[in-house]
Amino acid sequence: MLTLKTSNLSPVQIQGLLNCAVAPRPICFASTIDAEGNINLSPFSYFNIFSVNPPICVFSPSRRVRDNTIKHTLENIKEVPECVINIVNYDMVQQASLASVEYPKGINEFIKAGFTMLPSDLVRPPRVAESPVQLECVVKDIISLGENAGSGNLVIAEVKLIHISEAVLGDNGKIDQRKMDHVARLGGDWYCRVTNDNLFEVAKPVRTVGIGVDAIPFAIRNSKVLTGNNLGQLGNVEHLPADEEIAGYAQLPEIKALLNATMGDSQNRELQLHLKAKESLDMGNVDEAWKILLMKP
Ligand SMILES: Cc1cc2nc3c(=O)[nH]c(=O)nc-3n(C[C@H](O)[C@H](O)[C@H](O)COP(=O)(O)O)c2cc1C
Repeated sequence: MLTLKTSNLSPVQIQGLLNCAVAPRPICFASTIDAEGNINLSPFSYFNIFSVNPPICVFSPSRRVRDNTIKHTLENIKEVPECVINIVNYDMVQQASLASVEYPKGINEFIKAGFTMLPSDLVRPPRVAESPVQLECVVKDIISLGENAGSGNLVIAEVKLIHISEAVLGDNGKIDQRKMDHVARLGGDWYCRVTNDNLFEVAKPVRTVGIGVDAIPFAIRNSKVLTGNNLGQLGNVEHLPADEEIAGYAQLPEIKALLNATMGDSQNRELQLHLKAKESLDMGNVDEAWKILLMKP
């Protein structure tokens, strides 16, 4: 494993490594305004949500690595401590990237990048009409992380209004993750798109106290077939199935067939049982997988 001391690296090297490693990052498309009313729009992927009560988002316009100057977004926020954080979806990504061009101060990137300005209700900067979710924010604080080229500036923005396009709402009135079509930033020029076929769910462990991987019987924990993800699923159950349940399951024709076919060959039986359990786990059937795994090899 390569181990690097950041004190031996240049800011550009660190940026290259961390941008690839700490990814994907959501994109805050921030609109701001200066005291004269000039509007600015820029994307920032050093961004996330950090609190829901109060609702706080943080993004970081860094000092330019090239000449250590300050970005217009930060200058504007210092003059007018308000912003709108517009969420970027796939349909917007090329124009959002265009808005990151270093246009001179006073140039409105809504116009340069071809986005529509929508008046905000509470704050002065306008919203991006094309964005599926727009957050009107009041900036509570700016924390400078240094004075050198590449130093970040944490903009602590309190979300006051959340505007949501009906197009991304599900029947239950909540945001449907599958409809957001998010894009996110990775290292270099790479982005990723959250499509339906790469979305998956992981059952939250907070409501139950899972037995833990350490409580999984040794032969299962050291399986040559089951992966770390599979062990995580198995360790997330509260109880193992009762003996009667396992015995009942063993009466299913396909299980009976598997047991008959591997009679007298305990190694092969274990392998076949683990393969079958893995199939169940990969389909999300954790209880079924446990019944298969706890069958006598
Ligand atoms: C997707 C994307 C994400 C970016 N993220 C950041 C970031 O987190 N911090 C930053 O300082 N610059 C970031 N940039 C570069 C800024 O958008 C760029 O410097 C922009 O011109 C700043 O505009 P301004 O000077 O008008 O504020 C990003 C660019 C893109 C395309």
